[in-house]
Amino acid sequence: MSKTTKRIEARRAAIILAAGKSTRMKSGKSKVLHEVGGLPMLAWVTKLARSAGVEKIICVVGEVNKDVRTAAENLGLEIALQEPQLGTGHAVGCAQKHMDGFSGDVAVLYADTPLIRAETLARVFTALEQDCHVAVMGFETKKPAAYGRLIEQDGKLVKIVEAKDASPEELQVNLCNSGVMASSAADMFMAVSKLGNDNANREYYLTDIVEILRNSGKTAMAVHADEAEILGVNSRRDLAQAEQGFQAFMRAGFMDAGVTLRDPDSIYFSWDTDIEPEAEIGANVVFGPGCFVASGAVIHPFCHLEGATIGKNTQIGPFARLRPGTHMGENSKAGNFVEVKKSVIGKGSKINHLSYIGDAQIGEGVNVGAGTITCNYDGYNKHKTVIGDGAFIGTNSSLVAPLNIGAGAYLGSGGVITDDVPDDALALGRAKQANKQGWAKRYRAAQEKRSKKKRS
Ligand code: UD1
Ligand code: CA
Repeated sequence: MSKTTKRIEARRAAIILAAGKSTRMKSGKSKVLHEVGGLPMLAWVTKLARSAGVEKIICVVGEVNKDVRTAAENLGLEIALQEPQLGTGHAVGCAQKHMDGFSGDVAVLYADTPLIRAETLARVFTALEQDCHVAVMGFETKKPAAYGRLIEQDGKLVKIVEAKDASPEELQVNLCNSGVMASSAADMFMAVSKLGNDNANREYYLTDIVEILRNSGKTAMAVHADEAEILGVNSRRDLAQAEQGFQAFMRAGFMDAGVTLRDPDSIYFSWDTDIEPEAEIGANVVFGPGCFVASGAVIHPFCHLEGATIGKNTQIGPFARLRPGTHMGENSKAGNFVEVKKSVIGKGSKINHLSYIGDAQIGEGVNVGAGTITCNYDGYNKHKTVIGDGAFIGTNSSLVAPLNIGAGAYLGSGGVITDDVPDDALALGRAKQANKQGWAKRYRAAQEKRSKKKRS
């Protein structure tokens, strides 16, 4: 079997470094659990690894990172404990016992670097299929600052120097270390076992494995990535910058795919927002996780959506709030100041103004009048409202659930509807109006007489 074939078949593993206190976040929660685009950074990195074909993932945590440990377990990761934290190389060493019997390639990833794209990590792995034993993801930047520098010679990587340990010439280099690197597991752990800590930080630097492997006759390469992908989050300011980077990526992606964004910079997406071409999104719209918008739908300005599915040619807003479990059917409408929660709205049904619809199932072609409220909560339990096709719900109806309103039923306005309504029936749930002839005139006269007396 040729080297190339063997390499292509190599299985892939990843070690995610997430130990440490992350003091600069000033947070009771571990840094890597802070979210970008609604997804914790640790989950981003896990998703990255899996989309590059990684089957085995080990997460390195410290004693203090109990929350990370739980989150990592929920993501299906194996846990390696690093205590104390003696550097990135030491952290990788702590994962070794989980890799017994694994003979494929392994990538090291940092849990605080959420924006790296799957294609870029895939290029780091595939570099190992060519004449390369250790591949390091690097990026060029005008502000290399504290990043490690990748020192190249004749297109090959010779070593990585940390900024604190670099010579003045090395500090001039603007090809920097992202922190991501990959090699065969055998090379990785052989080199890690030889690391020393004779440097400015007295740490076992993972970056030193490049020189160690080269000294044993192996080849190292830099794989270039975009600076925007590499951003490492250490503070809340960095977190905000990562969020902006993510949003910029999503906005560009949607527009390139044929979605109209009226004012892109004012529209916010989540990691899993899914919008079909020919949909249109107005200014100041926020998508929480779990949203899908079909083609032809228009989300007018100032809407907030989360866990909502929006059918073809649907109109939403302005100023609508769609909460988890909302399914808006084709050609349906949720207009201004309408809140919908955990409800299915049938084809062509309209809730145009000032309503709360929760735990409801609304058929097709239903008209829900202004101010209609589903009274779905009795202080203890939630109850369901079912409305049949073609029903007409008069304005200002209170629908006291559990409640069934038949197909084609007609509800007079202002009703407090507590009993089921049969198909095609008229339901009136309000006091009968009483007119008292001449009452207002008599009332005014009496009032005026009284105030005259007071003045005299
Ligand atoms: C590291 C790189 C540097 C690179 C930079 C990119 C080393 C020696 N340096 O520097 O070349 O430019 O990242 O952002 O690798 N961690 C542990 N255990 C430890 C130490 C760190 O799990 O003992 C984890 C941290 O939680 C973090 C990651 O490793 O997720 C990186 O550690 P950090 O101390 O931030 O490294 P840098 O100094 O930024
Ligand atoms: Ca860092």
